Amino acid sequence: MEYFIGIDIGTTGAKTVVIDNEGKVVSTATVEYPLYTPKPNWAEQNPEDWWQATVKSIKKVLRTSRIGGENVKSVGLTGQMHGLVLLDRENKVLRPCILWCDQRNDEECRYATEKIGEEKLYKILCNPILTGFTLGKLLWVGKNEPQIYEKINKVLLPKDYIRFKLTGEYATEVSDASGMLLLDVPRRQWAKEILDIFSIPIEWLPKCYESPEITGYITKEVAKITGLKEGTPVVGGGGDQAAQAVGSGIVKTGLVSVTLGTSGVVFAHTDEVKIDPQGRIHSFCHAIPHRWHVMGVMLSAGGSLRWFRDRFCQEEVKIARKKKTDPYQIMTDGASTIPAGSDGLLFLPYLTGERTPHADPYAKGVFLGISLLHTKSHFTRAILEGVAFGLRDSFEILNELGIPVHQVRISGGGARSELWKQIIADVLGVELVTINVTEGAAYGAAILSTVGAKFYSSVEEAAEKMIKITGKTSPNTEKNNFYTELYQQYKLLYKLLKDTFFNLHKIISG
Ligand code: XUL
Repeated sequence: MEYFIGIDIGTTGAKTVVIDNEGKVVSTATVEYPLYTPKPNWAEQNPEDWWQATVKSIKKVLRTSRIGGENVKSVGLTGQMHGLVLLDRENKVLRPCILWCDQRNDEECRYATEKIGEEKLYKILCNPILTGFTLGKLLWVGKNEPQIYEKINKVLLPKDYIRFKLTGEYATEVSDASGMLLLDVPRRQWAKEILDIFSIPIEWLPKCYESPEITGYITKEVAKITGLKEGTPVVGGGGDQAAQAVGSGIVKTGLVSVTLGTSGVVFAHTDEVKIDPQGRIHSFCHAIPHRWHVMGVMLSAGGSLRWFRDRFCQEEVKIARKKKTDPYQIMTDGASTIPAGSDGLLFLPYLTGERTPHADPYAKGVFLGISLLHTKSHFTRAILEGVAFGLRDSFEILNELGIPVHQVRISGGGARSELWKQIIADVLGVELVTINVTEGAAYGAAILSTVGAKFYSSVEEAAEKMIKITGKTSPNTEKNNFYTELYQQYKLLYKLLKDTFFNLHKIISG
């Protein structure tokens, strides 16, 4: 048997997974680290924390799987996208990483949009300039921390900082690089024209590879501290969404995934670049050579339900503890007794602003239609339905762009709920399938490494061998018709409230 490792530098922790050459998960380990919010709308992490957690998680999987480092044929990396890691000439981290969910750079995004101009923006970058992406963060540092900006020698993404620590190489790959807004997405190379507009030296950027390509090798020092073998190849890997999609087998047109984690992501494979001229969904390179993808990102999907659990469901948490079950199970059991449509309660899931379809950092969560009959379980159901409506927004855009949807694969923590899956199938009017793999992006990164190690000849071949369908949730036509009527009201609500969200932000922030 041969073994492969995938490492995911997530927002909550570093996860390492070991798989064998048939795709069986042999061992996994996650080591958590903190997220800092020094100011409202800011989100930062310390890259050194990622590194310590990565080393611990590698050691742990090697120990628990009892696989000697010499049996690991290759390593693939994935991680949270868009984060800004800045290194000086001595490779010292210049400031904490500004994360994907940090919203501080709205002003810089407006400035960059104007400087680049609409036409070039879509032709080269294929996406609007959003606060979540890297370019605005870099410009923010330039404007607000010039003493740091002038010391920059390298600009890296989170997983690529870990690659640097593992291999000593500055490298990235096209799927994650797409989310920096410094990549020419159709040509899959750095966008010199865009770099020049902002006087960003191309030398600051790492070498950009295709995702399954080998980017470097485990160094002697790292071999000593982790137990991996010196010289083990490390492949490009992918941004967490592209790697997650590989791990869900989204390797040909017609296959679409829905990932219900903190965020809610709709990801569709495309054979060529497909651009939404309204910038509502992202168009990035896929982690498969010469392939692309479009992606709708809701910022608070599972995050909305977690917020509701943490703030309002202490009782359910206690009951769950007694019954040795999951608090979400108690909450969704309650929601399953409430009729579809939550007796007129509608929820907008914009607790941390929104990307798809509104790209609005000021949007906020809303419950509309509260009456005396509503109970806590109504609110839970309204959240499940509101998130499903948010996912439908992305599917409507796929439809508008003529992107076919032949099969929808659902995964992530939210997919553990039968009720939520049924609501989503009913709202979308499509069948959802589940797969045998639940290890997400880390698994996808491990798959990419099997191709780099030449165990499989393509990502498509590897994914098709390893990933199997395990379950199906079919939509109910009557419910779909009913939800379609409610969805029209859901869509209208944001339009009515857009200005109010912004005005509220201005009043409150002074
Ligand atoms: C994708 C995105 C998130 C982060 C964190 O555009 O912002 O998926 O990568 O998971």
